[in-house]
Amino acid sequence: MRYAHIVGCGKYVPSRIMTNDEISKMVDTSDEWIRQHTGIGQRRIAADNESTSTLATQAAIEALDMAGVSPVQIDQIIVATSTPENFFPSSACLVQDALGADHAGAFDLSAACSGFVYALSVGADAIKAGNANNVLVIGAETFSRIIDWTDRNTCILFGDGAGAVVLQGSDQPGGVLSTILRSDGSGGDFLCVSANGNRPKSALEATALMPTNDSHFVQMNGREVYKFATRVVDRTLRDLCNKVGWEMQDVDTVVPHQANIRIIESAAKLMGLPMEKFIVNLEKYGNTSAASIPIALTEALEGGRLRHNDKILMIGFGGGLTWAAAAVQWNGLRATNRTQRVVNRVGYSLTGIRSRARRLIRQAEDRMFGTDAPAVKPPVAAPKVKEISDEEVKK
Ligand code: UT7
Repeated sequence: MRYAHIVGCGKYVPSRIMTNDEISKMVDTSDEWIRQHTGIGQRRIAADNESTSTLATQAAIEALDMAGVSPVQIDQIIVATSTPENFFPSSACLVQDALGADHAGAFDLSAACSGFVYALSVGADAIKAGNANNVLVIGAETFSRIIDWTDRNTCILFGDGAGAVVLQGSDQPGGVLSTILRSDGSGGDFLCVSANGNRPKSALEATALMPTNDSHFVQMNGREVYKFATRVVDRTLRDLCNKVGWEMQDVDTVVPHQANIRIIESAAKLMGLPMEKFIVNLEKYGNTSAASIPIALTEALEGGRLRHNDKILMIGFGGGLTWAAAAVQWNGLRATNRTQRVVNRVGYSLTGIRSRARRLIRQAEDRMFGTDAPAVKPPVAAPKVKEISDEEVKK
């Protein structure tokens, strides 16, 4: 029997801080309203030279350091994100190249704010099935790029950041014990972003689900998302506790998606748990979507709030609609391996050269061994059209 343990975690947030007061100069809102209705005080905004994969890479480096794992030992990289740089190549492939993770499969996973728990579940299952031994699971977002900064319904909520964990196979019981993944596409219109108008208009009108404009900004019905979230959190975590045989009162720590302090408080009340058991950091970062749970987990560890054998619940919810929970027994962490850390650093400094070298090797292989690909032919000139005079046309 294989178990999937979290053996390292890390986070990265951009240095630029945007306060509520700054937002109140852009839209009709106030620091007081935002704090009262959401619990958010500020958020981080990615710099022009940062993107989802660069944030993800920084968080991954921290997680690999803690795990004492080299990038070449990674079998899979899963990046949960709704703000990838491209449809393809995936942000995960960009992370793979930046880390020099030469033996890793890499893919993005799209489940909005539930994405990290979905990815954790997929990664843990790969380990339990014997298909992987080390999996890098990352939640990374740059929501600032898909926010309409004139829409006060959404621009007050979101922030940028990334969090990562290294999952590792072991025979020792514990780690990611069980997960629950759920969805309800009938509520997709409550929180959505269109993909460059890549939807047939007729299908849209037939279902009347999504907004018909092609804006690539986040569109949200906040009240409906709020009601959905408060309904599913308590119910799903109770189901998960039953599944793994835990009493709710025995749970040590809950790491919830950081969307709104009122959603977290409502869940705590329904679950009969004190707020002290919940990790809350949305005052500092706002809602970082798929990144919020791994960032909160890393900060909980840094703050000494996670102990050996602790029973931890994670719960994500958001667009799709999707929601997902994980039960984790916290017992896989090791002390940071300093030698591995130095070796990794040397490796990262060479990844740019490595990436260019791989491209050159591909070209050299083409020249040496030939290729089956059809040769690129020069563009064919358009056939000349015989000009017909007006008189000929009349005839
Ligand atoms: O990861 C999942 C992502 N999304 C979420 O988790 C969002 C879940 N929903 C929420 O967090 C909350 O519904 C919001 C924070 C979005 C809104 O809070 P609310 O308490 O549900 O406010 P509301 O929409 O019911 O609006 C209350 C009032 C309205 O004014 P009236 O009609 O009472 O006069 C709004 O126009 O507050 C007004 N309002 C604002 N006022 C100042 C709405 N947004 C703002 C704002 N600043 N930013």
